[in-house]
Amino acid sequence: MGNVNTVTDLQVEDGIAVVTLDSPPVNALSAAVRDGLDAAFARAIDDALVSAIVLICAGRTFIAGADISEFGKAMTGASLFDVQNRMEGAPKPVVAAIHGTALGGGLEVALTCHYRVAVPSAKLGLPEVKLGLLPGAGGTQRLPRIVGAAKALEMVTSGTPVGAKAGLDMGLVDELAPEDGLKAAAVAFAKKIVAEKRPLKKVRDLDVKGGTPELFAEFRKANARKFRGFDAPEANIKCIEAAATLPFEDGLKRERELFMGLMSGVQSAAQRYVFFAERQAAKIPNLPKDAQLRTIKKVGVLGAGTMGGGITMNFLSAGIPVTIVEVKEDALQRGVGIIRKNYEASAAKGRMKPEAVEAAMGRLTPTLDFGALADCDLVIEAVFENMDIKKDVFARLDATVKQGAILATNTSYLNVEEIAAATKRPHDVVGMHFFSPANVMRLLEVVRGDKTAPDVLATVMELSKKIGKVAVVAGVCHGFIGNRMLSPRQREAQKLLLEGAMPWDVDRVLTEFGMPMGPFQMSDLAGLDIGWSAATSKGETLRDRLCEMDRRGQKTKAGFYDYDETRKAIPSPVVEKMILDYAAEKGVNRRPISDEEILERCLYPLVNEGAKVLEEGKAYRGSDIDIVWINGYSWPVYRGGPMFWGDTVGLKTIVERLRHYQNTGGDDFAPSKLLVELAESGGKLSGYGG
Ligand code: 3HC
Ligand code: NAI
Repeated sequence: MGNVNTVTDLQVEDGIAVVTLDSPPVNALSAAVRDGLDAAFARAIDDALVSAIVLICAGRTFIAGADISEFGKAMTGASLFDVQNRMEGAPKPVVAAIHGTALGGGLEVALTCHYRVAVPSAKLGLPEVKLGLLPGAGGTQRLPRIVGAAKALEMVTSGTPVGAKAGLDMGLVDELAPEDGLKAAAVAFAKKIVAEKRPLKKVRDLDVKGGTPELFAEFRKANARKFRGFDAPEANIKCIEAAATLPFEDGLKRERELFMGLMSGVQSAAQRYVFFAERQAAKIPNLPKDAQLRTIKKVGVLGAGTMGGGITMNFLSAGIPVTIVEVKEDALQRGVGIIRKNYEASAAKGRMKPEAVEAAMGRLTPTLDFGALADCDLVIEAVFENMDIKKDVFARLDATVKQGAILATNTSYLNVEEIAAATKRPHDVVGMHFFSPANVMRLLEVVRGDKTAPDVLATVMELSKKIGKVAVVAGVCHGFIGNRMLSPRQREAQKLLLEGAMPWDVDRVLTEFGMPMGPFQMSDLAGLDIGWSAATSKGETLRDRLCEMDRRGQKTKAGFYDYDETRKAIPSPVVEKMILDYAAEKGVNRRPISDEEILERCLYPLVNEGAKVLEEGKAYRGSDIDIVWINGYSWPVYRGGPMFWGDTVGLKTIVERLRHYQNTGGDDFAPSKLLVELAESGGKLSGYGG
């Protein structure tokens, strides 16, 4: 509790006023923080005994930005602009003392200070673009005045912060302070400024360097693909352009207009929702607060195939040793070889140091000896997707691995409870469903069985953060959350081919919607022959026929598409004819199918399946489902996930359209009970479950 208000303290010592903010968890610029800053600076400026002012924060970080939870609500408290004007206009030096993260509005406040001192571990950035916004408190006008237009463009459109040392090189930081002596260093710096009578450095008075029309044209061209579909990057670019071409005050006005435009749009609403949804997903309802976490120091992985290798890399990269067990020497060698190749590729791209490659590989113990798993704290099984094999493996794990260890399965579809029943310790069994490629995709579905112990769940959720994953809890059902919802989309995509569309029509509609690829491009990438066998294939489905022609996807340079040397997908006349023949054989009269129908038929049943997942309690919240889709299937974040998107379309509309398709297409389209209830009551899928 401070002496200015509940979150602000002001102390004057030896002529230096120290304003301390203490508003956990991240000192966001809430009304109380703005009021506190305003009052503290007014007092310090008025105090004739004060010769300089230091702004510092208590707790884990400097100001981490505007308070996002206040967005969209009526504004109370002092305006941030008034506070910033008071600070920048102070007739005595103002020094920001930065630790943790100075992000968004936090950096924008620091940029209205005359000087900035930071500890080496501090990070400075303008991440608003990740919330579908732009820095709306002068950041787009002040940042390029320090770092130049090119660097500012990169920082505001990527949202990636820079470290304090880089900040020092680019002029964002004036001096580095010792990690454990920030306050003393900032006060000493302030005294030095006063003693040397250094001028008050106002960023607004500087010129923007390098803001040529060519720079902006080239930047737009180079990033067009990356920014596709998003509104915020272009608005950020326009602001930097304004900084380069307009007087400061006019630039601020332009920034304000563009900020308000984004703030009132659906994209930013979606991206802000996702920010909170992601943090919410980590919270498990009814978990005892004092659940003691199990210690995970050594991990075992069973199976060195596609998934086992990727899963292993997550732990090696996080510094956790892994024992990987295979049944066949060649499979083991191949798996380990791929892990090394992946690391070396990262090193070649400069993403990791060559020493780090060796350090990661040094943590890996490859073996054919099942007994080597005995002392692991967690074993993740990633063998073939076959219940009998999985049961056998779990019975053996039960007999081999030490008591108290967590036994996890990476199964995509199988019943985790049935697998757990193969052991005498089902409470230690959990699903850890990684997504391919497992070293890249951020999603981890944590599948909770009826007997899974709370501390097992809590340990796995915590561990997921350590390995850089976003974990979402799912209940036991076929395909859990993500694959279960994918299945009606795949079904409709297939039906659409028979009824009149071509693979490239369906894929185009879904990529225009914002998915990185459509269902047929995805199948070609994964390989059409997964689960297909030449021995039993009877040419009953399009997939059978493609595989029989050795069109097995990208790996054979032909699948639903033809592929050239650069792996570019080209619509295939062979496939077109095959589809027409297939429809004729089935007696289907093909008809023109609109883009609207493709979108509705692929996505409304997917939303409906999500509602069923919620209705059956297989996900805790609608927002958890959105996190699954954004991180596991690359659903466009600016559409907020299928539940949020369903809400924006309108649940009444979705129910109506599902019923329309039900009339002709049957009960596959029958809207779920929950969907109908929410549509009638005006409820929301994204808000379901809290
Ligand atoms: N507003 C409100 N709450 C915030 C917040 C913010 N800006 N930033 C974080 N929080 C909350 C989180 O929701 C979380 O709450 P919970 O504990 O109830 O779930 C809590 O603070 C801790 O956050 P994290 O779990 O993310 O903690 P970490 O230590 O992992 O990360 C962080 C800290 C790097 C600061 C991270 O929270 C973050 O990136 N925050 C967002 C920063 C940001 O986007 N700032 C820009 C805001 S927009 C803006 O400033 C507009 C301006 O230009 C006008
Ligand atoms: P894969 O066929 O690439 O690898 C399986 C590996 O397990 C093989 O190398 C095999 O030799 C080994 N193996 C088989 N029995 C074993 C045993 N008893 N002990 C040790 N090793 C054994 O299969 P993939 O794709 O890695 O799948 C593994 C599991 O992960 C499956 O359950 C699958 O459903 C699941 N999964 C797969 C995804 C994918 O995209 N491939 C995505 C998510 C989950």
